[in-house]
Amino acid sequence: MYNSKITGLGFYVPENVVTNEDLSKMMDTNDEWIQERTGIKERRWIKEGSEDTTAVMGAKASRIAIERAGLTKDDIDFIVFATLSPDYYFPGGGVQLQEMLDMRTVGAVDIRNQCSGFIYAMSVADQFIKTGMYKNILVVGSEFHSGGLDKSTRGRGVTVIFGDGAGAAVLSRTEDNTKGILSSHLHSEGKHAKELIVESPSIMHWVPALIAENDENDESYYPYMNGTFVFKNAVVRFSEAIIEGLQTNNLEATDIDMLIPHQANLRISQFVQKKFKLNDDQIYNNIMKYGNTTAASVIIALTEAWELGKIKDNDLVVLAAFGSGFTWGSVIIRW
Ligand SMILES: CC(C)(COP(=O)(O)OP(=O)(O)OC[C@H]1O[C@@H](n2cnc3c(N)ncnc32)[C@H](O)[C@@H]1OP(=O)(O)O)[C@@H](O)C(=O)NCCC(=O)NCCS
Repeated sequence: MYNSKITGLGFYVPENVVTNEDLSKMMDTNDEWIQERTGIKERRWIKEGSEDTTAVMGAKASRIAIERAGLTKDDIDFIVFATLSPDYYFPGGGVQLQEMLDMRTVGAVDIRNQCSGFIYAMSVADQFIKTGMYKNILVVGSEFHSGGLDKSTRGRGVTVIFGDGAGAAVLSRTEDNTKGILSSHLHSEGKHAKELIVESPSIMHWVPALIAENDENDESYYPYMNGTFVFKNAVVRFSEAIIEGLQTNNLEATDIDMLIPHQANLRISQFVQKKFKLNDDQIYNNIMKYGNTTAASVIIALTEAWELGKIKDNDLVVLAAFGSGFTWGSVIIRW
């Protein structure tokens, strides 16, 4: 059995900054409410007319990650692409990346696990590397939320939270089994699917029927979120996933050098930080600048923390996420 190690990281966010003040001009909200409840000050939203899409942003982040890995596109054996906002209903974003990066006809798979998408994507890639099937896998999380949000007061409970962006990692085979991904842990609980959902369009709510109805009041195109319920479940599941990962590897919370929690809400991250008694330099948050970028959030935060020199050789790095599904999980890495 091999281990997989992160050899390259990259991220890309659109340049258009949308502040809380900007949102207050679109809907009945204010900077104080948003910062107090979520910690978010601003987020990036793709500007109308921009070339950026979920796949395009994913490709931009990927080019950086591949270059930093010291590889070329031709060294990549497989693509794992996580998103809840693909450019098309089908085909998925993975095949778009294969084309955009002008890659060999390598396999490409999409992961549809929302906020925990990147954790699932890392775990999937890790299994392919561990078994020896592939050597270098491109793992991407990318999200274009702003095109699908309700920017009226009706949508304010959801819309203020989400931002656009992408991140990518190259996972490579190593024969040193003390380094790289030590374990990953995945969970789901579908009975809560409707607590955080976009219901249509779908096979059940198919497009011609929606067009025929032409009902402006139909909210099912927009994300629905039972925020309080999601919050309560998130704090429990984040903690469980971290404990499960630590226990599997006979580690304790004091062994954590860097926790990268999915950037759902700064209050959730602070709760987890307090629970595990972590200092400010043992956790990295950037939701203040980017909002919640769902499948991109963990990889953007990981990349930024690494770029800032906050992650060093041999550090114990813990990634954890929770989101729609519900799905949640963790990845434990010896850097
Ligand atoms: C979304 C969230 C910030 C809302 O905070 P909350 O304290 O639960 O607030 P509520 O939804 O109960 O709303 C409280 C009030 O603020 C109002 N409100 C909602 N959004 C608002 C906004 N953007 N600006 C101003 N007021 C707003 C509500 O209408 C409500 O008003 P009312 O009391 O008059 O009815 C919080 O529930 C949360 O972060 N949940 C987890 C979300 C998450 O992590 N999602 C990603 C999945 S991982």
